[in-house]
Amino acid sequence: SGLNAHFVSKGKKFWGSAADQNTITIQANDALLLSDFGAVTPENSMKQISYLELLLSSSGILPNAYILVSDPHIQQAAVNSLSPELITLSTGLHPMLPSWVSSIGDKATLTSVIQTHVTTLWDVCNEIFNEDGTLRSDVFSSVLGQDFVRIAFAAARAADPNAKLYINDYNLGLVNLVKSVNAAGKVIDGIGSQTHLSAGGAGGVQAALAALSAAGTEIGITELDIAGAAPNDYVTVVKACLATPACVSITTWGVADVNSWRASSTPLLFDNNYKPKPAYTAVIQAL
Ligand code: XIL
Repeated sequence: SGLNAHFVSKGKKFWGSAADQNTITIQANDALLLSDFGAVTPENSMKQISYLELLLSSSGILPNAYILVSDPHIQQAAVNSLSPELITLSTGLHPMLPSWVSSIGDKATLTSVIQTHVTTLWDVCNEIFNEDGTLRSDVFSSVLGQDFVRIAFAAARAADPNAKLYINDYNLGLVNLVKSVNAAGKVIDGIGSQTHLSAGGAGGVQAALAALSAAGTEIGITELDIAGAAPNDYVTVVKACLATPACVSITTWGVADVNSWRASSTPLLFDNNYKPKPAYTAVIQAL
């Protein structure tokens, strides 16, 4: 009867949520994850800084990501039929990069660092563009050119031939990049469009999804939140996904406003007391 079930009844794959250690341990939040959501994305714990810094420490401690996945709450969620796409491949090779990686100068070493990261963590790349849609100039693009994207996705494909591999961003530079990388053999299965919106910004989503569809892969709205949203803003986004055949999923970036990274703008579907907001009701009605 929850959000995910309504969305799936429209032929879509799942409605997911961001979650992490700080929220899965809150009972009210956990109950909503189980009743209303069909997948979870770790909000922060798979980010490169967690993994590589732990790796560097040589402590032998497993990265947070594995702690999260082995958490009994998440296992229970999986048992209760959350999507097998439990972990969306997200934030990775670019943000929060440690300096020992950014100072690597040769192709072979950097290729091997990417392969180890992707193979161990199943975490590929996120936010790799400049605002104008060209590739950000960082150690990956400087040493390897655009080929770093193919290297990362090929490593993920080798690590799990059955996984759906997504590239995640907010920049429409995705379209040309995915077309160009996949032209030499399809390694990217899907595009994650972050969709962190401001009030009134929902009107652009239909056109953005149409533009992304041109890349020829499936699309997920992966991090939806709308600052100061009117209920209708959420409905506009949902309708845009329903109207776009390639759009297969929506993930809201958290359950309740109180735990949102944009908490002061109350951007989510449940309020500070884990109660459904008018936007939630409007979305259910639109489904
Ligand atoms: C955000 C998290 O929600 C915050 O808790 C953290 O402090 C910063 O990162 N785009 C992304 C996500 O790809 O990783 C970001 O998540 C939100 C913007």
